[in-house]
Amino acid sequence: METTLRSAAQKRNLKIGCAVATHLLDDPEYARILGAEFNLIEPENDLKFGPVHPEKDQYNFAPVERQIAFAQSHNQEVRGHTLTWHNQNAPWIEGKSPDELNQILKDHIFTVMHHFKGQIKEWDVVNEAINDEAQIRKSIWYNEPGIGLADQNYEYIAQSFRWAHEADPDAKLFYNDYNIEKISSKSDRTYEMLKQLLSEGVPIYGIGFQCHFVLGSDFDEAFETFQSNIQRFKSLGLEIQFTELDIRMTEPQPGDFERQAEAYKKTIELALEEGVTLIQLWGFSDRHSWIPYTFKSEGWALPWDENFKMKPAYHAILAALQGDN
Ligand code: XIL
Repeated sequence: METTLRSAAQKRNLKIGCAVATHLLDDPEYARILGAEFNLIEPENDLKFGPVHPEKDQYNFAPVERQIAFAQSHNQEVRGHTLTWHNQNAPWIEGKSPDELNQILKDHIFTVMHHFKGQIKEWDVVNEAINDEAQIRKSIWYNEPGIGLADQNYEYIAQSFRWAHEADPDAKLFYNDYNIEKISSKSDRTYEMLKQLLSEGVPIYGIGFQCHFVLGSDFDEAFETFQSNIQRFKSLGLEIQFTELDIRMTEPQPGDFERQAEAYKKTIELALEEGVTLIQLWGFSDRHSWIPYTFKSEGWALPWDENFKMKPAYHAILAALQGDN
């Protein structure tokens, strides 16, 4: 069998995932690489509240169903992202009262999770609830106006997890966030939050480190404390996943793709050493990455280039998965 990221990961019983924008499945070359190189896919946008629940009584499940059909025919798992988040919500929920929002979020979580029960077994239930100042982020679900638990600390987060667990007791439920890789006030706060919620019996199974890195000092600094940070979350009994890995840069200079490859290698090696159960890329090629749309003048973050040619990063990830040094 041809060696791929997927075959190398499989040997280690590791999930190697990729975020997918559904329309890209129309491109045969894209679909071929996705099917060959990954054993898990995750809808990049189609399970977010706005896309999946665009009107009060209307759910748009078709794109995710198409991804599930693709995954089944390629023997892949599908991961769910995300149920309670401040972004990409639907306009129709604006102006509702806390009582109404409580019912809306509960119905949403139950309907979506029931619909995909047995097909989606892992969910990012709550995404990005801590802000860059290490405080609970203001959001429509928390306190603007919230689901009736405004200013009750982490209660709206606990409620989301309890509903999700009730909706599908077999699903593995994750808290997911960005910029929590290094030890910082944000990761400290996240740690305290999960510790407290777990002590209250809130059904949280694991934590997703998004791993949106910037090549250079940002990456290097994160790596000074990433391992010890992972270890403290592990000590809470949480499963660890890397859910949205990419390593961006500005206009590549000579040597940058090699430095990027080295950064990917370190990330994969750390994942293997710490028993991380999923390594997921946020897309696989520079042709379709979210980075240039979000971070001005940045890009080149993924292991395949804009022509679907493997970059040094690809070979470094593969070698790390194979245990070559
Ligand atoms: C991004 C998608 O990649 C874009 O296509 C979309 O326009 C905005 O959202 N953290 C997350 C993801 O949890 O949902 C975000 O995805 C990237 C940052």
